Amino acid sequence: MNSDVVKEMDMPNLKEVSAPDERPAETVIEPGKTVGMPFTANPRFQLRNVEVFYGENPAIKNVSLDIARNEVIAFIGPSGCGKSTFLRCLNRMNDSIDSCRIKGSLQLDGQEIYSPGRDVVELRARVGMVFQKPNPFPKSIYDNVAYGPRIHGLANRKSDLDDIVENSLRKAGLWEEVRHRLGAMATGMSGGQQQRLCIARAIAVSPEVVLMDEPCSALDPIATARIEELIAELSENYTIVIVTHSMQQAARVSNRTAYFHLGHLVEVNDTSRVFTTPEHELTESYITGRFG
Ligand SMILES: Nc1ncnc2c1ncn2[C@@H]1O[C@H](COP(=O)(O)OP(=O)(O)OP(=O)(O)O)[C@@H](O)[C@H]1O
Ligand SMILES: [Mg+2]
Repeated sequence: MNSDVVKEMDMPNLKEVSAPDERPAETVIEPGKTVGMPFTANPRFQLRNVEVFYGENPAIKNVSLDIARNEVIAFIGPSGCGKSTFLRCLNRMNDSIDSCRIKGSLQLDGQEIYSPGRDVVELRARVGMVFQKPNPFPKSIYDNVAYGPRIHGLANRKSDLDDIVENSLRKAGLWEEVRHRLGAMATGMSGGQQQRLCIARAIAVSPEVVLMDEPCSALDPIATARIEELIAELSENYTIVIVTHSMQQAARVSNRTAYFHLGHLVEVNDTSRVFTTPEHELTESYITGRFG
């Protein structure tokens, strides 16, 4: 029996176990071909033909994308599609993973992020990061926020440091809740407070970009709403890249949305467009809940 015949015979069984309107898993994706608007005027990041491997396994396959100044861009896509991997390339957070190799050109303001002489500490001060799970240092609230400015020598006097701490906590929407207990341990705060503290810590060094990897996934709806308000406020001064599994959240907070699938960047468009009239059938399948 030749293989075509086997395929024919197997088809009805496969169809029976699948949802009736499910797309074939192997919808063709042309490597490097992204539909929509991956490029922008006035880019802060210019990312070209980026490939990322863990050992021999490709995790990001020929992705090109611009990220503009003062935009909020959301990365969405099924689990394992490479969102966190790609996000971590933007401030070299993958450096600590031995098996991770990166190819292509990744530029921040026209300079290669991965050039051998690049000062990674300075890069991470310019491109801050907030993780899924709040990770305050086991120090006081004050010392968490003051940590970066101290390392980077941003304040000469105690009063300057006090100002940075207060302003960062204000921007993170936390000041009123903690102003009377700045010396208390950060680890004693609620999850939502800890996440806002981590945002205050990230912005205390005046970054230009804030990367957020599922920043609300451990938070309740009220804390989530607070963080989303904060993203809207921060977007006036910062470029924000947010990974989220919540399509409602992507729709609420972002200007553009990038849809990743199996390491490919399938579609990038204005967020309203992605969620109303996606161009690619894989994007449509994902946003209508057919997979992911
Ligand atoms: N440290 C690592 N070592 C080896 N492989 C990894 C590592 N981190 C991620 N990968 C692999 O790279 C691919 C992309 O993973 P990544 O964490 O970027 O996906 P993701 O889109 O962020 O998923 P999720 O939505 O579940 O967070 C996956 O196949 C994953 O198994
Ligand atoms: Mg992830």
